[in-house]
Amino acid sequence: MSVVVEAHDLRRVYPIRRGLLRAPAQLQAVGGVSFSLQAGQTLAVVGESGCGKSTLARMVALIEKPSAGRLVLDDTDAVQPPASERRRLRQTVQLVFQNPYGSLNPRKRIGTVLEDPLAINTALDKTERARRASEMLARVGLRPEYANRYPHMFSGGQRQRIAIARALMLSPKLLVADEPVSALDVSIQAQVLNLLADLQAELGLAYLFISHDLAVVRHIAHDVLVMYLGHAVEQGPKARVFARPLHPYTQALLASTPAVGTPPAQRIVLKGELPSPLNPPPGCVFSTRCAYAVARCREERPLPRLLDARQVACHEAERFV
Ligand SMILES: Nc1ncnc2c1ncn2[C@@H]1O[C@H](COP(=O)(O)OP(=O)(O)O)[C@@H](O)[C@H]1O
Ligand SMILES: [Mg+2]
Repeated sequence: MSVVVEAHDLRRVYPIRRGLLRAPAQLQAVGGVSFSLQAGQTLAVVGESGCGKSTLARMVALIEKPSAGRLVLDDTDAVQPPASERRRLRQTVQLVFQNPYGSLNPRKRIGTVLEDPLAINTALDKTERARRASEMLARVGLRPEYANRYPHMFSGGQRQRIAIARALMLSPKLLVADEPVSALDVSIQAQVLNLLADLQAELGLAYLFISHDLAVVRHIAHDVLVMYLGHAVEQGPKARVFARPLHPYTQALLASTPAVGTPPAQRIVLKGELPSPLNPPPGCVFSTRCAYAVARCREERPLPRLLDARQVACHEAERFV
C-alpha cells in the first residue's frame, strides 16, 4: 500500500498578545506530532477540546503552515512545495468541517457548489462538469435533481453528504475530516460514517478523521492517535490501543466512553483541570492529572516509544502491559 501523507514532528505555535508593553506569549497548540497514513486507511485523532486536533487538521490540509516539522504529501514536501507542484498538492488533500451549513454558500445551488472546483481547476466544459456533479450526487446517496436546490433545503446529514461530494470533485487522495459527524443526530451519524467507509473502499481514500468521540472512532479508524495538550500521548492500531490502552490518559478517555470502555464501576475519572497550553506542566503534560505520576514524570518529558505494538509517551507504561 502506498503512503499518502507523512508528518514528522509537526508543531504549531501561536503568538498571543499580552498588551502593548509585554512580548507576546507563545501558545503551543501542537507540540510535535508524527504519523504516516496509507491509501485506504483511516487515522483517527482523538482528545478533549483544545488539545490541538483542529490545528493539526489545518496543517495537514495545507490551510495553515506548521511552525516546525515536515509534512510529506503524495511524496512531495508540502511545507515548501516546488512551485510547479502547489496546485496538484492542494487538490490531493481536501477538508470536511463539522458544520456543513457554515461551509456551503447559501446563495449557490448545489450543482454550482459541486461544479466550482472543476470550473476553477480543470478545462472541462459545462456539460461535462454538470455530468460529473450529478454522478457525484448519486455516489454520496443524493438524487441528481438536487443539483438545482439550495443548501437550506437540506437536512444536516444531507448537507454533510454535499460537503463530502464537493471535497471529492477533484479526486483527492486524502480527506481530512474535522468532527464531520459531531453536529448530527446519532442515527444520521451512522449513515454518514457508512458513506465514508463505502467511499474509502471504492476510491482508496486515506482519511485523517478528527473526533472527540471514541464511540464514533471505533467504527471508522484503523489507527488512532490520542492527543493531550498538543502532544501525541499514544498512537497505534485501533484494536491494540482500545483493547489495552497503555497511557493513563487513553485509559481515562476510553473509560469515560460507555459504548467503548469498561463498565461504570471501573471508570477512571480524570481529576483536576486541563492545564493551560500557555503554561504547560514541565515533564509529562499529563502529570498534573495522572494517578500514576512519579517524580520523574514531573521533571522529564516522556518521548513516544514503541511498546506492545504502539507508540506511547509515558515513563510508567510498562506497568500496564
Ligand atoms: N488561531 C489561533 N490563535 C491562537 N490560539 C489558537 C488558534 N487556534 C487554536 N488556538 C489554540 O490552540 C489550542 C488547540 O486548539 P484546537 O486545535 O482548536 O483544538 P481542538 O480542535 O482539539 O479543540 C487551543 O488552546 C486553542 O485555544
Ligand atoms: Mg477542533
